[in-house]
Amino acid sequence: MAKKSQATWGGRFSKGPAELMLNFSESVSFDNRLAPFDIAVNRAHTAMLQHVGLLTRRELKAIHKGLDVVEKQIEDGKLKWDPAFEDVHMNIEQALTKIVPEAAKMHTARSRNDQVATDSRLFFKHACEVTVGLLKELLGSILSVAELNQAVLIPGYTHLQRAQPVSVAHHLLAYVEMFSRDIKRFEKLLDDANWCPLGSGAIAGTTLPIDREFAAIQLGFVDKRGKARLTTNSMDAVADRDLFLDFGHACGVCAVHFSRVAEDAILWNSSEFGYVELPDAFCTGSSLMPQKKNPDSLELLRGKSGRIIGSLQSLYTMIKGLPLTYNRDLQEDKVQVFDSFDQLSVCLQVLSGTISGMSFRAENCSNAVSDAGLLATDLADWLVNEGVAFRDAHHIVGAMVAKAETLNVPLNEVPQADAKEIHRKLAGDWRVVFDLQRAMKAREGVGMPGPKQIKKQLGRWKKAYSA
Ligand code: ARG
Repeated sequence: MAKKSQATWGGRFSKGPAELMLNFSESVSFDNRLAPFDIAVNRAHTAMLQHVGLLTRRELKAIHKGLDVVEKQIEDGKLKWDPAFEDVHMNIEQALTKIVPEAAKMHTARSRNDQVATDSRLFFKHACEVTVGLLKELLGSILSVAELNQAVLIPGYTHLQRAQPVSVAHHLLAYVEMFSRDIKRFEKLLDDANWCPLGSGAIAGTTLPIDREFAAIQLGFVDKRGKARLTTNSMDAVADRDLFLDFGHACGVCAVHFSRVAEDAILWNSSEFGYVELPDAFCTGSSLMPQKKNPDSLELLRGKSGRIIGSLQSLYTMIKGLPLTYNRDLQEDKVQVFDSFDQLSVCLQVLSGTISGMSFRAENCSNAVSDAGLLATDLADWLVNEGVAFRDAHHIVGAMVAKAETLNVPLNEVPQADAKEIHRKLAGDWRVVFDLQRAMKAREGVGMPGPKQIKKQLGRWKKAYSA
């Protein structure tokens, strides 16, 4: 037998890798977090090998017992990960073989290529489940604050210019819509991950009589009726990294969402807006200026979104030029998705905490929303109801706004004589429009900020997501 220079693949080598190469090529320092999934795959794969007669019952029993021991060692932090064994797969196999020599048969009819593809799919199923849970918690927090602030009105903005009045609840429910789409995205991903590549081997399956369905069922890669879901092309199965891209994308969109929410809250928290008071627990002070209370949690959320979006870009760049099938470049894919998952998880919790502790400053909000210009469009609608064509109405109200500016009065205080001069219809009772409660009540169509509509939407979302 050839001298082993590397325990798992050393047969054809006379010398081991250089120290530098070992450290360069190892992935165990980051892929060891796949250990629980790798052990599950080892259990299922060996059970399948016994099922088809490639392992005896005694061998399987010994291997499964050994896997329990290794699993415990890992949980207790007692297994020493050795970069000489490259990755999590070989480290676990080596640790196991040391205590159970029968484990030399464990790698029968598989390759690390289908193994890492299977481990990754289990990781994605787990990561999506965790993320959906965190998103639901975040939605719970947003919904509570929205419910409390149904009566608080603020200006809504376009171009960061005061546009039209909305309730705080309506604004927050926009976030609920955004994050609920994220939930759907992660749920879809969870389903896409649910196909088993095990049995694809390195690239072309195996000549050994394996039972792919058996292993898939053991690992929970099944449809609603319990039928195994198997990938159907061995080359694609080991080369495919779509889930990495999809996960990176889902994290990226969610990051864009929380970054925009953070930006809103940073503005609202500024002295210039003054709409909210942020919780001390999620702010920090300045080392120099004693008066400062900075919205650091929100700024970091905005910053971290760049990191998450960058990871997706890295994945695209890494994968795009690779010939089929597996190439070692792909080892780097995990760095990106693990980081995105970790950062997204902590970001969702921080956002949830910051929003939960946020209170609205009723007086400042009320001052800002009392700007009569916010109801200029309502005045145009009033003219439409009086039979004026909208284009003309728009023009007439524009003239009113200009007049108000010249006279330096609010829009609703343009003298009646001036108004009448601008358009004869303005001889009527056009000032009724400038009542905020009336304005909100006039917006009860689906998706609008009318109070009844908001109650309805709140109820719907609470039913869907509140614990
Ligand atoms: N650590 C490797 C990775 O994550 C596992 C697959 C190794 N396959 C190989 N043919 N060297 O990509």
